[in-house]
Amino acid sequence: MRICVIGTGCVGLVVGSCLADGGHDVICVDKDKTRIDVLQSGRAPIHEPGLADMITRNLASNRLQFTTALPDAVASSSIIFLAVGTPEGDGGVTDLSQIMTAARDIAACVDGYKVIAIRSTVPIGTAKALTHTIRQFAPADASFDIVSNPEFLSAGSAIDNFRNPQRLVIGTSSPRALAMIQEVYRPLDLLDRPMVITTNETAETIKYTANTMLALKISFMNETANLCEAVGADVRDVALALGLDRRLGAGFLQPGPGFGGSCLPKDVASLSQQALEHGCRFQLAETVIEVNSRQRRVVVDKTRKALGTLADKTITLLGLSFKPDTNDVRQSPAMHIAKALLSEGASINAYDPAANVEARKVIPEMHYFDDPYSACDGSDMVMVLTEWRQLRDLDLAEVKRRVRCPNMYDARNIFSRQRMQELGFSYLGTGC
Ligand code: UDX
Repeated sequence: MRICVIGTGCVGLVVGSCLADGGHDVICVDKDKTRIDVLQSGRAPIHEPGLADMITRNLASNRLQFTTALPDAVASSSIIFLAVGTPEGDGGVTDLSQIMTAARDIAACVDGYKVIAIRSTVPIGTAKALTHTIRQFAPADASFDIVSNPEFLSAGSAIDNFRNPQRLVIGTSSPRALAMIQEVYRPLDLLDRPMVITTNETAETIKYTANTMLALKISFMNETANLCEAVGADVRDVALALGLDRRLGAGFLQPGPGFGGSCLPKDVASLSQQALEHGCRFQLAETVIEVNSRQRRVVVDKTRKALGTLADKTITLLGLSFKPDTNDVRQSPAMHIAKALLSEGASINAYDPAANVEARKVIPEMHYFDDPYSACDGSDMVMVLTEWRQLRDLDLAEVKRRVRCPNMYDARNIFSRQRMQELGFSYLGTGC
């Protein structure tokens, strides 16, 4: 079965290359010619473990192609996955312009039956709106169905998430489209993965509520961490005990400087906004947004308190990406914290194993280093803001030799307080 994937961001590339790897014939389309050139040469334009190898392998076997020519790609495919960006617009409203442009482009070349599967995260009701737009622009006899098939891929482990999904969500009212999508996922079906087959609106709702609930768990633990600090408890043991209760679930209980990335913040804001549009306030989503921005301020306040003032202090930030194994700095707590520290007159030395280049585009005034030790030279406070494996393995005695004052703010709790104190550091953690 020939499959077209529109959009070559993380979602589109992972979906396209994994489907090709599973034996399908896949063509990925993007308007960005430079990006397509990079992909055609077998390189991955984003840092995602395993992706470059998978692209190279499937290009070589001719199961994967990249193009800017959407009409040919759509015309020659029976299933079209939409994986274009749906960024946050003003006031939490999702910007659907890329989806709607793609819909019109597809409409112009629907010849014969097509299944259009929405993989991007889109507001509830978008499948219906898309049907309307395609009908409006397509020939009168055009035949197609829209499937809502949200992705649950996490940056840094996206390939494994695609191959071993905990569940697949398929929203459609068309038995024909459902059968075709099930055929696409047959290799996963063999792994006995649960499929939730439902309506388009329900599938769209599942995506937003899943991400909001994940964000809620993180914010709950961040508030718990703040309470633990106030009462002298240890949030790590609290998280351990909560996670052992299967009703609560062990995932997403790590406190830290707040959640970031291109999905959780945007999706929580969007859910809250969509609820309001439907006359139904989703107060927990609103609170999650508030708690998350406050958590970044908590980090800055604790740093200021420890140093007396931030003015003229040299602060080292270790980890800039919103999570490990990605170079994505969008809505990264580290970037928000860096801006706040700079605004109070601190000078910042920064190191990230993969995100220095992206971070420099956003905050050029930080001093960037290619190794963590040089970034610690003359520092008044070292802060770990992203739990990269490379940082867990730091030679802490060397860090101590390099800094001016041995202050360590381990916002992700990757080190032990006892060990840090034995080494002579003054240690701050999150909730412990
Ligand atoms: C998320 C969803 O997990 C995924 O299902 C969806 O498809 C896309 O959005 P992603 O944005 O890649 O994935 O990152 P995720 O692993 O969810 O982490 C988001 C943020 O939460 C990161 O900043 C991370 O550091 C933070 N986080 C996560 C915590 O602070 N504590 C945790 O316990 C887990």
